[in-house]
Amino acid sequence: MTRVLYYGDNLEVLRKYIGDETVDLIYLDPPFNSNRDYNLLFREQSGEPAQAQIKAFTDTWQWSERAFQTFKLECPNPRLVELVDGFVRTLGRNDLTAYLVMMAPRLIELHRVLKPTGSLYLHCDPTASHYLKVMLDVIFGARNFRNEIAWCYTGGGRSQRYFGKKHDIIFFYSKSDEYIFNRDAVRIPYGIDVSKRKSLWAWGKHKGVEKAYAPHPEGKIPEDWWTIPPVNSQAKERLGYPTQKPLALLERIIQASSNEGDLVLDPFCGCGTAIVAAEKLRRQWIGIDITHLAIALIKYRLSDMFGLQERKDYQVIGEPTTEAEARALAQQDRDEFQKWAIGLVPRARPYQQKKGADTGIDGVLYFQDDPRDAKKALIQVKSGKVSVKDIREFAQVVKREGATLGLFLTLEPPTEPMIREAEQEGFYTTPLGNRLLPRLQIRTVAQLLSGEGFLIPSTALLMGVQQAERVAPNAGQQQIPLE
Ligand SMILES: C[S@@+](CC[C@H](N)C(=O)[O-])C[C@H]1O[C@@H](n2cnc3c(N)ncnc32)[C@H](O)[C@@H]1O
Repeated sequence: MTRVLYYGDNLEVLRKYIGDETVDLIYLDPPFNSNRDYNLLFREQSGEPAQAQIKAFTDTWQWSERAFQTFKLECPNPRLVELVDGFVRTLGRNDLTAYLVMMAPRLIELHRVLKPTGSLYLHCDPTASHYLKVMLDVIFGARNFRNEIAWCYTGGGRSQRYFGKKHDIIFFYSKSDEYIFNRDAVRIPYGIDVSKRKSLWAWGKHKGVEKAYAPHPEGKIPEDWWTIPPVNSQAKERLGYPTQKPLALLERIIQASSNEGDLVLDPFCGCGTAIVAAEKLRRQWIGIDITHLAIALIKYRLSDMFGLQERKDYQVIGEPTTEAEARALAQQDRDEFQKWAIGLVPRARPYQQKKGADTGIDGVLYFQDDPRDAKKALIQVKSGKVSVKDIREFAQVVKREGATLGLFLTLEPPTEPMIREAEQEGFYTTPLGNRLLPRLQIRTVAQLLSGEGFLIPSTALLMGVQQAERVAPNAGQQQIPLE
């Protein structure tokens, strides 16, 4: 049973880990070249949407001559090189062509890993869809183009200067003419009482004989425009991850184009909608994302919805598992190290820093150990040298913010004076079992990796992000919501 999450750049992960013709279905929802940052919205302990946001990922591309030349050198498909070269010559070297140069080698790899009976669904919007479709025609062959699905929705703002831009595009390609399409798994009602409407009957000839075709008793195969509701601010499934797609959309795709036990891959998996839809429908799955935030969210989602636990039920590859790997991550990208390290503290979330201001807080978690109010623990993460001064300053921050606990997480081991300074902060007595918890706790990354966590009243942890609803064990049998 394959159930794997990869942290990393999908191009590297695909090349390193995913074998030729091993995947049954690919769904990808890459950034669309929208030229903006996407923020994760947190919920406060009251359940209200919080002001706090943190950058989840960036959808801004910059031209890189090196990336372009590398693509040209490495690409095994000369027609694709010619096409992308043509885009660059006609459109120029800019953010759009940078985006196309990023997508081209990834689409090549996705085609490679797809089984001959497999299908690919590429989710995009009209910003770059026309270029992506030509690239897909070159890679898959135009004869394997199956649908351009318009996912239509309403809501949100609209311009006064043009028609509301309220649909996304999903290209559906198969690798060959022999592909899975479970039409009966995705039928939807005709929308009227078909027994009374003779107009729905169709007449035609079968082997030269006139025949009347009655409407199917279980409904029609959906058209290529879908009106599944988006994940709006009131949606129960909303986790706060920007660009989160509805579960019903992914369930339809997975039911139509794979069977139970098949392997589904999402190489830009975000908060893991395709992953949880695959799990719900009893498929195997692989998810890849380049941010620790997304991987942390998927872990919570898998636990909340299905009770799945890392290592026992699924694997995470690419995240540091040893102190040396953590050190390498810290050297490579301090920001990602910080987000990853905060993910080691159950249910903690990164803290939004105001631009230019260092508040001394890197993460926060809420817990409730009495019925009256939620309490706050602040987290500080250090990847460099640490001294007693850091503990003194952090103790001040914890007091200033009225937090109950301070959790100091360091890559380097603490010195004796640091430990003594932390002990001076005394204890907090949690009403849960009347336990004494040190107000300022120090742990090294190595300790957390070996399971020696901070002392927090763990039965009462509250999530910083919206919690996913639990899924009943037989939910995979359910029909998807009707349009
Ligand atoms: C539009 S979001 C996907 C949302 C997802 N469909 C969902 O429902 O949550 C795109 C995701 O791609 C990730 N991403 C961007 N570039 C990537 C890369 N080179 N490799 C892996 N993931 C990447 C971003 O971090 C982001 O989470």
